[in-house]
Amino acid sequence: MASRKIIMDCDPGIDDAVAMCLAAAYPEEFEFLGITTVAGNQTIEKVTENALRLSSFWKIHAPVAKGAAVPVLREPLTAADVHGGNGMGGVEIPPSGETAAENAVLFIKELVDKLPEGEKVTLVPTGPLTNIALLLRVFPETAERIEEIVLMGGAICGGNITETGEFNIYEDPEAAAIVFDSGLPIVMCGLDATSKCGLKRETANRLAEEKGLASSTVGAMVQFYLNGPAYGGQPRASIHDASTFMYMLHPEIYKSRRMVVRVDCSEGLNRGMTVCDTRRKSNGRPSNTIVLTDADGEKFQEYLLEAVRRMDERMR
Ligand code: BDR
Ligand code: CA
Repeated sequence: MASRKIIMDCDPGIDDAVAMCLAAAYPEEFEFLGITTVAGNQTIEKVTENALRLSSFWKIHAPVAKGAAVPVLREPLTAADVHGGNGMGGVEIPPSGETAAENAVLFIKELVDKLPEGEKVTLVPTGPLTNIALLLRVFPETAERIEEIVLMGGAICGGNITETGEFNIYEDPEAAAIVFDSGLPIVMCGLDATSKCGLKRETANRLAEEKGLASSTVGAMVQFYLNGPAYGGQPRASIHDASTFMYMLHPEIYKSRRMVVRVDCSEGLNRGMTVCDTRRKSNGRPSNTIVLTDADGEKFQEYLLEAVRRMDERMR
């Protein structure tokens, strides 16, 4: 099968970084056209610097464009306690290169315009959906060239930043609403599945001690997660963002259902909640979203480790 053309929109972020490592291990599956950044886990300056470094470190070598510094309506939040002061759990990746001249939105539009006739791109957002919403509003014609949007965000049940809000959606609910209402095919890799997909503490500790560059880097980053407030005392850290690429590589390890998903943009208790309609008939609304409902966490770890080992070889 031909490789998928990918534009990743991210806020690295430990799990964004590991997601990139997973994708980089399979260049025959994923052809990166570009990487764009959005403020989320850290400020736009920090996540953009991280994306530049990671693109080169993981041997993706895709151009990087800086995107939105703030959500559509609100002030940004960051998650420095979870991802560290540099957004990468204190792990230092060597500096590399400059960003593209264009802003992320124009950059994506130009990449899409350059696609050969009949070809489409898969968008992989692993941060707040600000850039993607702006793209769809400013250049609505790009929608025709988007194969699907495989995103990390939301949940059918329960949040991680509020009772019902998952971080990426809660950070910019208005943007998320634009994306979910766009009618484009979406795969929602939400917490119901992604929180079961991660690395065990003993595995992270073992990786951190290994000689391979990918193993030691992923191990050290995940150790930071495990020693921080999100996973302190827990046997496993979730690597939420990696489920986007893992789903494309191994859909069989996930359970999923097609649903109508809408985003609560009210100022109430459920602001930022992805309201997933689990009824058989959704008041006649077409269901454009495949929602991941469950995952095999053992298989996820096995396949992620396989990818990290491949990267150890590629990075020798
Ligand atoms: C999401 O929030 C961020 O902290 C992670 O990078 C991931 O994209 C999980 O809720
Ligand atoms: Ca992220």
